[in-house]
Amino acid sequence: MDQEHEITLRKLTVDDVDDFMVWATDPKVAHFGSWEPYASVEDAIAYMENVVVPHPWFRAICLNNSPIGAISVTSSSGADKCRGEMGYVLASAYWGKGIVTKAVKIAAKMVFEEREEMERVEALVDVENGGSHRVLEKAGFVREGVFEEIFCAERKN
Ligand SMILES: CC(C)(COP(=O)(O)OP(=O)(O)OC[C@H]1O[C@@H](n2cnc3c(N)ncnc32)[C@H](O)[C@@H]1OP(=O)(O)O)[C@@H](O)C(=O)NCCC(=O)NCCS
Repeated sequence: MDQEHEITLRKLTVDDVDDFMVWATDPKVAHFGSWEPYASVEDAIAYMENVVVPHPWFRAICLNNSPIGAISVTSSSGADKCRGEMGYVLASAYWGKGIVTKAVKIAAKMVFEEREEMERVEALVDVENGGSHRVLEKAGFVREGVFEEIFCAERKN
């Protein structure tokens, strides 16, 4: 299947919730993420209303205008506003067809065009997420390093 010309990005809206549920409920898609698979449409709608819709750069990855995944670039603020962190997910039925590589290329181009202040788009990927590493390599991202260990302190109260 030649999908090279069929992948587009557009805003994801609450009306897309049925498509969103396809990947958001899939444990394979959530496996490397910091989220649990969604169990209810109500929770998905709340996420879409509270996070997706107000997000400055959150797009549906569409095949023939139907969402099959999502990609976002979250900007830092203040002195770090020149940096954006990219994240993406794709419904597992479409894995391995070059779709996210295409989406990453389109998204990076759009963000650099739309955001004059943006100098870097970064992605943090689990060391075991080989598919995501390969996507970024194919999209022209440069591997800068590996976090051996991450220390953090969390609020106690
Ligand atoms: C990772 C993910 C985004 C890849 O999307 P995709 O559209 O299937 O990616 P592409 O088809 O563009 O490219 C995948 C590449 O990774 C390779 N690949 C897949 N699994 C791999 C693995 N375990 N180890 C190494 N390479 C792997 C594929 O062979 C392909 O490379 P190739 O074109 O050289 O053959 C998709 O699997 C996904 O949504 N996963 C769940 C969410 C996720 O992990 N998001 C990223 C968080 S950082």
